[in-house]
Amino acid sequence: MSKRASRPGGAAASVTSRVTTAGFSVIVPVVIIAAVGAVGAVLSVVPVTAVNTAGAAVPETTLLSSASLQTGSVWDGAYTEAQARRGEPLYEASCAECHGSDLNGLEMAPGLLGSEFAWNWNGLTLGDLFERVRVSMPQGAPNSVSRGEKADILAYMLEVNGFPAGETELGSRTDTLRGVSFHAEKP
Ligand code: HEC
Repeated sequence: MSKRASRPGGAAASVTSRVTTAGFSVIVPVVIIAAVGAVGAVLSVVPVTAVNTAGAAVPETTLLSSASLQTGSVWDGAYTEAQARRGEPLYEASCAECHGSDLNGLEMAPGLLGSEFAWNWNGLTLGDLFERVRVSMPQGAPNSVSRGEKADILAYMLEVNGFPAGETELGSRTDTLRGVSFHAEKP
C-alpha cells in the first residue's frame, strides 16, 4: 500500500496536488485513493459483490493474493463433520447468548438459520459470511474468538442449515473461502 501511495504521477497525484494545504492532508488522500484502487482491483478479480457485508469495508492484504481457491458451492460439502462437532460448543459459548442455542435468534439478534438467513447470503460467498463474522462477531468482542474457531463455528452453522459435510475442512482464509459460493437453494 505504501509503495502505491509513494509512486509519483497518475490520477492519485493530480487529485492530491489540489489539496496540498498541510503536510498531513497530502498523505491522507493518496492513501485513500490507493485504498480505493486496491478494493477496486480486488472486486474486479472476485466476481461476486461483497458490498452489502461488513467484511467488504475491511479489505485485508491476504485478499490480494491469488492463493489456491477452495472452489464450488456450499452444496458440494465445504466442511467436515468433525469440524462442525468442534464448532458446536464454540457457538454455544460465544454466539448462543444472542443468536439462540437453536440458531433461531433471540430478541437482540437475528436467526442464523433457515430461509431468511440463507437468502440474505444467497449469491455471495462463504468468504463474505466469514468476513462478516470475523470482523463483527461476537458483537462487541470480535477478537475474543480466533479465526480458526470462527471457521469451526461457520462449519457448525452450515451443518445446522442443512448444507452437506464433505471431505475437506472449511479453511479460515478469507480469500480461499471466497471461492465457495453460497446458494440458498440446491442448484
Ligand atoms: C452480544 C450479542 C451477539 C453475539 C454474542 C453474537 N452476535 Fe451475531 N449478531 C448480533 C446482532 C445484534 C446482529 C444483527 C445486527 C448486526 O448486524 O450487527 C448480528 C448479526 C450476525 C450475523 C449476520 C446475520 C445475517 O443474516 O446477515 C451473523 C452471521 C452473526 N451475527 C454471527 C455470529 C456468530 C457466528 C457469533 C459467535 C461467534 C455471533 N454472531 C455472536 C449480536 C450478537
